[in-house]
Amino acid sequence: MEKKELIYEGKAKKVYSTDDDALCIVSYKDDATAFNGEKKGTIVGKGVVNNRMSNFMFKLLEQKGIPTDFVEELNDRDAVLKRVEIVPLEVIVRNKAAGSFSKRFGVPEGTAFAAPTLEYCLKDDDLGDPMINDSQIIAIGAATKEELDTIAAYTLKINEVMKEFFAQCSVELIDFKIEFGRLPDGTIILADEISPDTCRFWDIETHEKLDKDRFRRDMGGVEEAYAEMMKRVGLDK
Ligand code: TMP
Ligand code: ASP
Repeated sequence: MEKKELIYEGKAKKVYSTDDDALCIVSYKDDATAFNGEKKGTIVGKGVVNNRMSNFMFKLLEQKGIPTDFVEELNDRDAVLKRVEIVPLEVIVRNKAAGSFSKRFGVPEGTAFAAPTLEYCLKDDDLGDPMINDSQIIAIGAATKEELDTIAAYTLKINEVMKEFFAQCSVELIDFKIEFGRLPDGTIILADEISPDTCRFWDIETHEKLDKDRFRRDMGGVEEAYAEMMKRVGLDK
């Protein structure tokens, strides 16, 4: 499978068409941004980590009954994916308070929850990805009620699978963001990526941050944290 034309370039990846209209090739970059692109930088080797970790997680989730866009890993940075129309929502699950939740609601980072939270943001860079609720999503047609029910059910199952998997790696899954796509027949499948860019990973004992917060917050040790996550997941060989 070969790249034909560049069809999309985002902050962290490029997407190419292929000879097969149903498939595309994603290529992960080392570019890092935060705060809607305000902060820019490079995390050396990040593209490799995110490609390999995301492919690994999507394969695991497929085994657990979640349909995904993953087809095949081509090399360290590139993967073949099913072409989808992205549902314009960032779907966020939180197991403990952190980040924008802590800020918005005044709940200290690391506070445990009675149950995981599920929230949505509308994917719109010009608007700064505002938070949106179920009725608003349905009202503007970002997704139908049926699609949202499917997305919510998949998302909670994905959280259970990921929480258990990362706990075995001595990593606590604090929160994460995922995205879904529609196949041409309307089927909803998991899309985009699962990586240290899109999850908060804390060491289960020390609570050391092993994710993109080290870049967002200028904490240093960013590359080391991504490399440590590869080791924890067993992808460093
Ligand atoms: P938040 O606390 O900043 O709302 O982030 C929640 C989770 O979503 C966290 O794991 C980081 C991830 N995230 C993204 O993947 N992309 C984004 O643009 C933002 C704001 C957060
Ligand atoms: N990648 C996102 C951006 O540049 C934000 C983030 O991950 O914090 O806006």
